Amino acid sequence: MRLVCQLFARPALLLLCCLLPANMALTHYEYYTDGGIQSGLSDDQPNFTLNGKNISLYSGAIHFFRVHPQYWRDRLRKLRAAGLNTVETYVPWNLHQPEVGLFDFGDGGTEFEEFLDIVRFIQMAKEEDLFVIVRPGPYICAEWEFGGLPSWLLRYPDMKIRTSDVQFVKLVENYYVKLLALLAPLQFTKGGPIIAFQIENEYGNTDNKVDPVDTKYLETIKNIMITNGINELFFTSDTPSNGFTGTIPGVLATANFQDGAKNELTLLKNFQPNKPLMVMEYWSGWFDHWTNQHQTRTVTSFTNALEEIIKLNSSFNLYMFHGGTNWGLLNGANIGKGIDNAGYSPDTTSYDYDAPLSENGDYTEKYHKLKELVSKHSNIKFQQPEEPALVKRVAYPSINVIPHQLSLGDLIAQNDVSPIESPKLMSMENLNINNNSGQSYGYIVYRKTNVTIASNSTLKIEGRICDSIMVLINGELVSPILEESSDLNNFGYWNLKDSTLNLGANEYKSITLDLVVENWGRNNYGLLDQFNQKKGLWQGDVLINNEVLTNFQIIPLQFKKEWVQKLTNWKDAKLKVGPTLYKATLNIDEVKDTYIDTRNWKKGIIIVNGFKLARYARVGPQQCAYLPAPILKKGDNEILIFEHFTPGKVINFATDPVFETL
Ligand SMILES: *[C@@H]1O[C@H](CO)[C@@H](O)[C@H](O)[C@H]1NC(C)=O
Ligand SMILES: *[C@@H]1O[C@H](CO)[C@@H](O)[C@H](O)[C@H]1NC(C)=O
Ligand SMILES: *[C@@H]1O[C@H](CO)[C@@H](O)[C@H](O)[C@H]1NC(C)=O
Ligand SMILES: *[C@@H]1O[C@H](CO)[C@@H](O)[C@H](O)[C@H]1NC(C)=O
Ligand SMILES: *[C@@H]1O[C@H](CO)[C@@H](O)[C@H](O)[C@H]1NC(C)=O
Ligand SMILES: *[C@@H]1O[C@H](CO)[C@@H](O)[C@H](O)[C@H]1NC(C)=O
Repeated sequence: MRLVCQLFARPALLLLCCLLPANMALTHYEYYTDGGIQSGLSDDQPNFTLNGKNISLYSGAIHFFRVHPQYWRDRLRKLRAAGLNTVETYVPWNLHQPEVGLFDFGDGGTEFEEFLDIVRFIQMAKEEDLFVIVRPGPYICAEWEFGGLPSWLLRYPDMKIRTSDVQFVKLVENYYVKLLALLAPLQFTKGGPIIAFQIENEYGNTDNKVDPVDTKYLETIKNIMITNGINELFFTSDTPSNGFTGTIPGVLATANFQDGAKNELTLLKNFQPNKPLMVMEYWSGWFDHWTNQHQTRTVTSFTNALEEIIKLNSSFNLYMFHGGTNWGLLNGANIGKGIDNAGYSPDTTSYDYDAPLSENGDYTEKYHKLKELVSKHSNIKFQQPEEPALVKRVAYPSINVIPHQLSLGDLIAQNDVSPIESPKLMSMENLNINNNSGQSYGYIVYRKTNVTIASNSTLKIEGRICDSIMVLINGELVSPILEESSDLNNFGYWNLKDSTLNLGANEYKSITLDLVVENWGRNNYGLLDQFNQKKGLWQGDVLINNEVLTNFQIIPLQFKKEWVQKLTNWKDAKLKVGPTLYKATLNIDEVKDTYIDTRNWKKGIIIVNGFKLARYARVGPQQCAYLPAPILKKGDNEILIFEHFTPGKVINFATDPVFETL
C-alpha cells in the first residue's frame, strides 16, 4: 500500500486513498507523518492541524490504570475500530509515587506495580495507529482516590495543595522530573504519539468567587513541563458556562460538558475566536455513588449531543470511551461544602460509566452508534482494524468459605505494623509508617485495653467519623449493621456529627474496645479547601459517659499484597456477625473473565490472589465485582473476603453485572 501511494504526488495520494477500499487505505501515521515531521498539533488557526494537515480529533478516554495491562491492546484496538484517531489518559500521581521516597513507572516495587508501565501503554497506542493526549495532573479528579494526589501530601500541615505554595510546587516538580523524562521522547515531534498535554484539571472549579484563582500555579505547572522537555500543544479544560477562570493566556481552553453543546461551544468560540474547538470531556455516561441509584445516559441523548458537537466543527474526547474499574480501595468521592466530611459521597468500584465500551470490554449500542457517526463525518477514510472478538466470560460454580477465617483479633495479631502507642487519636495519614508517608488506604483500628464499662454507657465520637466505624467489645460487634441506605443517618457513618452509641445494659470489666474505621476513598473534586480530607478519627475526642479516652494502640490494617499472601492460622469457626476475613479457593481449568456476585454478603472488600479487587456493599447500586481473567490462573486461586457484618456461606459468580439500591 505504501509503495502504491508513494508513486503519486501528495494531493493525489489523498484522493487515491479516499477511493481505495478501507483495507487498502493509509494508516494515520502514514498520512500525518508522510514527508517527515515538521510540526505537531497546532491551534494557530480555527481548525487543528497536525504536521501541517487538517485534523479533527476524534478521541476517547481509557485510563491505563483502570484496565488490566493484558487488556490494554484489546481496548485500544476496539477504540481504533470505532473510527477514533486518538486515545486520552490521565496519570495517577498517587500510584506512581505511593511514598515520598518511592516511585514506580512500571519498574516494580509497589502495590500496584503491574498497572504502571505508562510508556508501554503509550507505545501500544501508537502500534494501534492512535495519537495520544496526556493529562498528567498533578491533580486529575477522575473519580479517583483524592483526585490522584498522594495521601502523604496531607502530612504537610501548612501546605496548600493545588496552589503555587512553594512546598507543593517542589513536590510536584520532584515527581514531574521523573514522569516527564519518560513522556518527552514519546512526543509527536520526537516521533512518538503524544500530540497534546493538559495543564492541571478543571482548575476553574476551584473558584470560590471570593479569592482570586491562583493562575500563577497553572503557569508554574506549564513552565515545569517546558523545562522538562515538553513542547507539544498545551491546553486547559473546564466547563465554559462556569466561566474561564481556569485558563491562562496562550494556552488553548477546551470544554467539558454533557449537554448544551451549542451554548458551551459558542461561549468557547467567543472566548477564543480564532482557535479550534475541542470538547476535552464529552460525558458519554456517568458514574455511581454508593447508596445512590445506578446512573445511565440514553443512547439517543448520547448520539444526538455528539452529532451536535461534530456539526459545530468541534473535536472531541469521549469521557469515557471505556471507564474500567476503580480497583480495590482506589475510588474517589464527592464531598459537600466544607471540609469536615459533611455531604461525603464515595464512588463505587465499577467505573463502567455507561460508556461505549462497558467495564468488561463488551461493545454496547453506544459503541455502534459512535462508529456510525464517526464514519459519516470523517472525510478521509483511514485503514481501520476489524472489531476484536468479544472476551468470553463464565460464571464459575459457587465456592464455600467454610472453614477458613480470621477474626479481627487474628488479623491484628499477624499485622505487618506493630501497634502504635499514642496518647491521642491520630489520622491514618499522620502515622509514622511507610517510610514516614503515613497510611494511605484501608482500615485503621483504635484499640483500648483494660476498659471497664458500666451498664447503659454512652460512647461519643466528637466531630465526624472519616468515614465509618465498627465498635467491638472483646471482638464482638456492638454497633449497627449497614442494611439500607438510610442507615447512613445512624451511628457509624459520616453523616452524623458528634455521634453517640448506647453500649447496652451489660456491664463490662477489663475489656478490649476496638474502634475500626474504614477509609471509603478521598474526595476528588471541588474547591481547594475540600482537598484536606484526612481519614480515621481525628476531629475530636472519643468519650465514654463524658470521660475522654486516652492512650490508644493504633493499628493500621492496610491489606498490602505481601501481607495478605502470608496470612496463616486460618480457623474453622462458626460464621458470625462482625469483621472477619474469609478465604475460599477457586479451582479452575479454563481462565476466563467473570463477576463475583456479592448479593449474599453485606459490606467489605474482595482480594483475589493478593490483588485488592473491589469494595462491595449490599446497599448498592453495584452488586457484582468485575474479575478479569488475567488476575486468575489455572488451578487454585485464593479469594479473600473481608466482611464487616454478616457473611455469605458461599461465593457466587456471574457472567453479567446486577444493579440494585437498597
Ligand atoms: C485545511 O484548513 C484550512 C483552513 O483552516 C483550509 O484553508 C485548507 O484548505 C484545508 N486544507 C485541506 C487539505 O483540507
Ligand atoms: C525512604 O524515603 C527516603 C526519602 O524520603 C528515600 O531516600 C529512601 O530511599 C526511602 N527508603 C525506602 C526503603 O523506600
Ligand atoms: C463547519 O465547517 C463547514 C466547512 O468549512 C462550514 O461550512 C460550516 O459552516 C461550519 N459550521 C459551523 C457551525 O461553524
Ligand atoms: C474544519 O474542520 C471541519 C471538521 O471538523 C471541516 O468540516 C471543515 O471543513 C474544516 N474547515 C476548513 C476551513 O477546512
Ligand atoms: C486495669 O485497670 C485497673 C483499674 O481500672 C488497674 O487496677 C489494673 O492494674 C489494670 N490492669 C492492667 C493489666 O493494666
Ligand atoms: C439500663 O437500661 C435498661 C433499659 O433502659 C434498664 O432496664 C436498666 O435498669 C438500666 N440499667 C442500669 C444499671 O441503669
